[in-house]
Amino acid sequence: MILVLLGPPGSGKGTLAKLLSSQLNIPHISTGDILREEAKLGTFLGKKVKLFMEKGELVPDQIILEVMKERIRKPNCQKGFLLDGFPRTMPQALGLDDMLKSWTKSIDLVLKFDLSDECVLKRLGGRLICSGCGAFFNLYTKPPQKDLICDLCGSQLHQRPDDAQEVILKRLKVYKAQTIPIEEYYNKQGKLRKAYGELDPDSILKNVLNILQSKNK
Ligand code: AP5
Ligand code: MG
Repeated sequence: MILVLLGPPGSGKGTLAKLLSSQLNIPHISTGDILREEAKLGTFLGKKVKLFMEKGELVPDQIILEVMKERIRKPNCQKGFLLDGFPRTMPQALGLDDMLKSWTKSIDLVLKFDLSDECVLKRLGGRLICSGCGAFFNLYTKPPQKDLICDLCGSQLHQRPDDAQEVILKRLKVYKAQTIPIEEYYNKQGKLRKAYGELDPDSILKNVLNILQSKNK
């Protein structure tokens, strides 16, 4: 199964993708995670994308398409995969379709998370990530037991650099201008389904599994 998760920054794409990936036994591929890892390692690619990410701007389509072509060719993608944060523009959506077509595959479903800008701002303003094991916490919805310390591995928690208020606002603006238009593309193909994103993660997972089940009937 090939699934795409669409939604504004902070809509819970990463959180749901982790749950869904273990339920469906397919890899979770997040362009944001791939690019952050490259930036952390200081690779040639990482240096190129860091500035775009820090400003809340999209990395150029050509770079993203090359990265994804490489990633979805890997053997663990044979039985399907879950895309989080890609595609994000019309050229990326068309590029993905071309890639899949050349392997006689296609997207099964696109899940869009709906939630208010207020909810996005609160969630991202409160997000904390463990620098050791990568676990997610949130000051408002899932606070760590000890201040800035991971409950799971005891490492330090940090804020993502692009979760500063002004960068969140920029990311939301970019999302509305460049990513919302691709919804219509998938809607016309009958592949778009919407899920309410302001519930707790387990309820969202349940709703999404129902959507997947009804699609397979
Ligand atoms: P990316 O990493 O994809 O960031 P994003 O889309 O802005 O989304 P986030 O990762 O911030 O949020 P999310 O929806 O995953 O929510 P999460 O589960 O973390 O991209 C970063 C940057 O990389 C881009 O700005 C761009 O520069 C570049 N980039 C990436 N892909 C690109 C592409 N295709 N093209 C060009 N550039 C690209 O949840 C957020 C918080 O809310 C957490 O604290 C979580 O614990 C909490 N939370 C989640 N779900 C719930 C819930 N149901 N209830 C309560 N709290 C919840
Ligand atoms: Mg994410």
